[in-house]
Amino acid sequence: MELPFAESYKIKMVESIKKSTRQQRTKWIEEANYNLFNLSSDKVFVDLLTDSGTGAMSDKQWSEMMLGDESYAGASSFYKLKAAIKDITGFDYFLPTHQGRAAENVLFSSKINAGDIIPGNSHFDTTKGHIEFRKAHAVDCTIDEAFNTTLDHPFKGNVDISKLEDVLKSHPKEKIPMIILTVTCNSSGGQPVSLQNMREVKQLADKYGIPIFYDSARFAENAYFIKIREKGYEDKSIREIVREMFSFADGMTMSSKKDAIVNMGGFIGFRHEEDYDKASVFNILFEGYLSYGGMSGRDMNALAQGLYEGTEFDYLETRIGQVAYLGKKLKDYGIPVQYPFGGHAIFVDAKKFLPNVPKEEFIAQTLGVELFIEGGVRGVEIGTLLADRDPETGENRYPCLELLRLAIPRRVYTNNHMDYIAASLINVYDRRDEITSGYKILKEAPILRHFTVKLEKV
Ligand code: F0G
Repeated sequence: MELPFAESYKIKMVESIKKSTRQQRTKWIEEANYNLFNLSSDKVFVDLLTDSGTGAMSDKQWSEMMLGDESYAGASSFYKLKAAIKDITGFDYFLPTHQGRAAENVLFSSKINAGDIIPGNSHFDTTKGHIEFRKAHAVDCTIDEAFNTTLDHPFKGNVDISKLEDVLKSHPKEKIPMIILTVTCNSSGGQPVSLQNMREVKQLADKYGIPIFYDSARFAENAYFIKIREKGYEDKSIREIVREMFSFADGMTMSSKKDAIVNMGGFIGFRHEEDYDKASVFNILFEGYLSYGGMSGRDMNALAQGLYEGTEFDYLETRIGQVAYLGKKLKDYGIPVQYPFGGHAIFVDAKKFLPNVPKEEFIAQTLGVELFIEGGVRGVEIGTLLADRDPETGENRYPCLELLRLAIPRRVYTNNHMDYIAASLINVYDRRDEITSGYKILKEAPILRHFTVKLEKV
């Protein structure tokens, strides 16, 4: 008999989670103004709001916490992290930051000016937020295939090279401070970018003299997909693939809360000393001194260890296998999900799931609320609320896709939880015809509104 798949870890510590009744959940979500961010976590049974900072650290990471050096300057923890970053990514220079968006803030402060154009593949919302906050523009050059959720394509995070070239051709070089390549591409469904595509982006960037920075939050998951799906990489190790990926970049921003499996932390990696020097000034101003930048010594130690664990094949196989296990259950039932399954999450195509809810009434948010009421499962809307309003016209932006993201925390839930999530969503699917209306906005912030928006039933 062939041995079945099993997790590459065992459990040493557990945390209780509580079930609730449908009646309680209906009341709680109304009190939360139908915003899942407003729910206190004790009201959630399975929390799939995000895979960011929600992973379970290993015994080795916890033991590294005890060895943290909390010196203000020159802590050994800083040097340990610097060596790990060099080893894994190849970048000689780095700045620690407290999380990914802080890395964006520091890097963009040193590089982006009003009126600049920043092409990329489905920039993440904080990335876009930091670009637009500086009155610059993010131009999405993702391949069209990414927006067809049922189309089978191995690298839906890829950049459309001709779209990118159009952008590079039509603006002066001085107006394009960088290309941002997001690996994996969160907003289009946790979809990977191929090495071939990275190589082509690099060739084009060199032709026009534009630097490339990777938004690397899920770089290891991207490397796993390259190993599994891209010809010629079957026999390469994850770390070899990671090194090749970053060889095409001038630098990276990192939200360590994802693939480095820590609860808080981030960094910027740089190939060139000039870039590091320019950003250093802002790091000291916004984050902290160069050798801690928003992180404590113990957190830097845990991060250094997490970078190694997050780039182990067995871990990634367990992780991505669990996401696919959930995806397959949903797909087999006929629930419309982004396919192939993403690395960190299953993305439910809410427009197809709830065809009777008008787009003005926030389709994916409506589905998120229904799933919470059904089973106490909390996902997150990746749709019109997240897309914010157009900064110039003030109109709602309706993205091609309305998605409900079910992000799976790393090393946290078992496959029984996956079965529970699937059953909850299947129950909503079975009564989808009765769901014909959604929500309207009571109150919203001018930027990144989805975190705090208040809604009421239409
Ligand atoms: N880039 C990507 C691709 C991300 O997914 C995130 C965060 C960030 C940058 C910002 O990093 O949160 O550490 O400041 N994504 C989280 C999520 C919030 O739920 O997907 P951060």
